[in-house]
Amino acid sequence: MAGGDLYEQIVDAANALYGTHDGSRALHAKGTWCAGTFTATPEAAELCRAAHLQGQPTPAVIRFSNASGDPHSDDWQRDSHGMAVRLRPDGGDEADILAVTTPAFVLRTPEEFLEFMRLRKPDPETGQPDWEKLGAFFGEHPESQTAVQATLNSEPPASFATLVYQSPHAFRFLAADGSATWVRYRWRPEAGEATLPDDEAKAKGGDYLRAELAERLGEGPVAFDLKLQIPVEDDPLDDPTAVWPEDRERVVAGRLEITEIVDDPERGDHIEVFDPTRTGDAIELSDDRILHARARAYSVSAYRRLGMDVENPSTPPSH
Ligand code: HEM
Repeated sequence: MAGGDLYEQIVDAANALYGTHDGSRALHAKGTWCAGTFTATPEAAELCRAAHLQGQPTPAVIRFSNASGDPHSDDWQRDSHGMAVRLRPDGGDEADILAVTTPAFVLRTPEEFLEFMRLRKPDPETGQPDWEKLGAFFGEHPESQTAVQATLNSEPPASFATLVYQSPHAFRFLAADGSATWVRYRWRPEAGEATLPDDEAKAKGGDYLRAELAERLGEGPVAFDLKLQIPVEDDPLDDPTAVWPEDRERVVAGRLEITEIVDDPERGDHIEVFDPTRTGDAIELSDDRILHARARAYSVSAYRRLGMDVENPSTPPSH
């Protein structure tokens, strides 16, 4: 358990926290797959030459998820929810945008995240983590409080379609005219934001979010605007715990229209791996250590989903 490289240890820690579930993601294990179309605005095309941002309707695969590593997690739990989007422009680079309902990430480095995951593990005797150690850790990491408080305060969703999803990382858009612009992503639901009181959500059972989405899509598409937040000088570009002030300029980059729930495409040895560093050559990554760590940890999780030895894979996971 203590062996392996940092990224294997992080996945081990997630498995220790949520259990090992064959074929499941180590985190965000329970998901609902959808299909839709993304159409970028002229403002996005001006900022970036990426194929999916030029304005032609682009097919999109979407996976909504609960952040837990338990594939049977209850939808009513106060936890983060995810929206992973893969944009598949005709003849251009595919691009993934991964976003969650928490406005910031909990820590700045993968080493600290590993420590945090280990500290959260309940003692088998008491069923509780060591609150004293966890409290001391939070004392040493005040930057974690934005994410921790947001998660504790988040009422269960009324719907996957009524949540704001955002990414705490900065990406650098390269434009056709040679200019470059740093941005952070945020998906804003056209249906507006709505949550439920805990008891009302609980009364709906552990799997209400998928059923609600199916019903809603039966009445028409579900849409999100993709908003870009543009920093000013001195806003940190590599710190996912730091929220940029709300008054920063926002540009609407496009609209995602989700039309249907689709069957889980992962069968046999075919898996899908959403990766926040898969952006294409017109979108660059910041030096954010969490962003780079994610690509590595997701690969470890993907190899394990395929039942492969990370050290000695016979074939890489389909990325
Ligand atoms: C060091 C920090 C992080 C680690 C180690 C980590 C780890 C993981 C792992 C292991 C998975 C499963 C991957 C797979 O099997 O395909 C996952 C999924 C996911 N993570 Fe993270 N994560 C981190 C930070 C973040 C952040 C900052 C976000 C915010 C956008 C995020 C959003 C997601 C989402 C949306 C999924 C689900 C993707 C899907 O539906 O396939 N994660 N994460």
